[in-house]
Amino acid sequence: MDHGHPTIRKTEMQASLSTSASKQWAALVTDINSACDEMKSVGVTFVRPSDIAMSGALLGKGANGTVRRGTLHAPGTPARDVAIKMIHATGIDDIKSDLVEFQNEMLMNHRASGRIREGKPSRIAETICCAVEVVCDTASVRFLIVMEHVSSGKRNSQDVADLIQDDRHWKALRYNGVDTGAKLSSGFIETETDPIQDVFAYVMSRKRKLTLAVEIARSLRELALSDIVHLDWKPSNILAVARSGTHDAERACPLVKLIDFGDATTVAREHEPTKTLDYTTGTPGYSAPESEYGIALLATDVFSVGVTILELWVGCLWHGATSERGYHEERMRALQKVERSDPMVASVLAECLRPDPATRPTATQLLHRLKKIQKAR
Ligand SMILES: Nc1ncnc2c1ncn2[C@@H]1O[C@H](COP(=O)(O)OP(=O)(O)O)[C@@H](O)[C@H]1O
Ligand SMILES: [Mg+2]
Repeated sequence: MDHGHPTIRKTEMQASLSTSASKQWAALVTDINSACDEMKSVGVTFVRPSDIAMSGALLGKGANGTVRRGTLHAPGTPARDVAIKMIHATGIDDIKSDLVEFQNEMLMNHRASGRIREGKPSRIAETICCAVEVVCDTASVRFLIVMEHVSSGKRNSQDVADLIQDDRHWKALRYNGVDTGAKLSSGFIETETDPIQDVFAYVMSRKRKLTLAVEIARSLRELALSDIVHLDWKPSNILAVARSGTHDAERACPLVKLIDFGDATTVAREHEPTKTLDYTTGTPGYSAPESEYGIALLATDVFSVGVTILELWVGCLWHGATSERGYHEERMRALQKVERSDPMVASVLAECLRPDPATRPTATQLLHRLKKIQKAR
């Protein structure tokens, strides 16, 4: 299902572009074509934009694009339910930077999801194909990334952040200024800052936390085996899947899938373990200290996964910090809470959060440690 070069819609209005603008525009189209050729040379499949019907519900919105449910009608293959990430760029500069991002996201996700082994469920969302549509009359470009639709069994997708925030995991101990009489069954208490001081306990069961943490560590290990670092691990980039036979990702035995490869990069494990990037990556609070210096290595992801699991444990990690120092303090405060209730988990998370990447556990070690804790009780 490969359809050559991007679709270019020309209209009358193109004639009104100034000569210099049309030269720049022509150069941009050449850049887009060569980026697409480069992607095809490593096996990325392109379809026509008209093969993709973006008819379904809005699944999510991120910093870079919108993701909708839709159908892929590629010639010669049955129609398939998919998720489509659309990055819509207008103006030469935005198009140039979005092209770089689109190419990186597509290549990295393709490389990571290309490793799926027969019979084993992958914990990385699969990219299927992509399309590029250049619209000359509005000087804009639509980049479309077609992925497997990760279904939570509900209308919208559900990520680990949604699971943490689910009402079922929060018990009101004091509400509207009145004690509810609920029994305290959690060491993770949150107080609202409003004057009436509502108090909530985060009560996700330890068993569920461990199941999810092991799933996340499996996803991390799968990615590490492709020598790719994601560089933006956080609860909202990990989707929960409803396994077959159930329609509710929350109740089902969970399976998670990693998405959003916009910041990802490759690392050569054996010869060159560290890579220096010329772009900033990650999300404040979740990023490892070395990210600030553009350094990326497998252990960089271990740090962010540690923060993600820490958040899963305490329910609410951030209390308004805005500086690196502030994020560090909030992480350490949460870690102390875990230490009091669950020292085995706290000890492995503390290792993931070590400032020196060389002393953090590997993905495989993290997975084994979590599995061991899971078996211990
Ligand atoms: N394959 C998918 N299946 C279902 N929902 C998805 C899929 N990919 C993304 N989403 C939804 O779209 C949101 C934004 O996607 P993401 O790739 O994280 O975009 P951004 O780079 O803008 O953060 C996600 O948080 C999720 O809710
Ligand atoms: Mg995202």
